[in-house]
Amino acid sequence: MTGLLTFGPGAKAAVFGASGGIGSALVDLLNRDPAVDTVFALSRHRPDNSDDSIPWIPFDLDSEETLQTASDRLKAGVGSLRIVLVATGILHDERGVVPEKTIKSLAGTAMDRSFKINATGPALIAKHVAPLLSKDKKSILVFLSARVGSITDNGKGGWYSYRASKAALHMIVKTLSIELRRTNPRAICVAIHPGTVHTPLSRPFVAEKARTAMQPHDAAVYILNVINGLELHHSGRIWDWQSKEVEP
Ligand SMILES: NC(=O)c1ccc[n+]([C@@H]2O[C@H](COP(=O)([O-])OP(=O)(O)OC[C@H]3O[C@@H](n4cnc5c(N)ncnc54)[C@H](OP(=O)(O)O)[C@@H]3O)[C@@H](O)[C@H]2O)c1
Repeated sequence: MTGLLTFGPGAKAAVFGASGGIGSALVDLLNRDPAVDTVFALSRHRPDNSDDSIPWIPFDLDSEETLQTASDRLKAGVGSLRIVLVATGILHDERGVVPEKTIKSLAGTAMDRSFKINATGPALIAKHVAPLLSKDKKSILVFLSARVGSITDNGKGGWYSYRASKAALHMIVKTLSIELRRTNPRAICVAIHPGTVHTPLSRPFVAEKARTAMQPHDAAVYILNVINGLELHHSGRIWDWQSKEVEP
């Protein structure tokens, strides 16, 4: 099979959020790509349709201990990684997180929760996996983010918690890229906006048949194409699914 990745053979990859709409599509594509030797799928629960040939490792963003254990298992399994994709995130949940239309609907606990899952959690993943990125060859750490986290692009307002937590994620990516330049000059760290995609995250806000939204498989193909084009000078920046830069 012809693969999508131009990474060279033998690449080891890991996807955090492997149970999600986009995360599971990324695992599926990476698993079938001849450039990839092993893809590790990481999620809170083992996905129902998981493939036994794909190593699964549990983690929960609510527990840093599980991230330490997951990174120990990755280290034991592969030594070093060329591609790490962080596809976790929330826009709404059953605990009261909603995209607020007005400041009047802001709830502190819900905003804290958005920051925990969309900013603090990915930062802790970076803390535990950055040391595993390959130092011999180019490696890439991608955080799925959202264009609405761009302060420059905010023309409509609303969605306070989601926007602010993704803006915080962008600062984490920028700061990490500066540190990686010193500690691992071959490592690239970026945020990618996947476009609007039919997944549980977007379901309440995007009609099932809306043509403006992509299927997860197509979004995953675009994300791998963005990864193919990344060079060191792209690190620390935000890219959309069409490889166009998003202003912070
Ligand atoms: N879909 C879109 O239109 C869209 C647009 C712009 C940006 N994005 C971004 O793309 C990324 C992926 O979103 P998606 O659409 O694929 O959403 P999704 O299908 O809802 O997947 C979200 C993932 O996050 C995981 N997660 C949530 N809380 C967690 C926790 N405490 N610990 C570990 N994992 C946790 C979920 O795990 P469980 O299965 O265990 O819940 C799931 O794997 C997100 O960062 C999102 O902001 C999506």
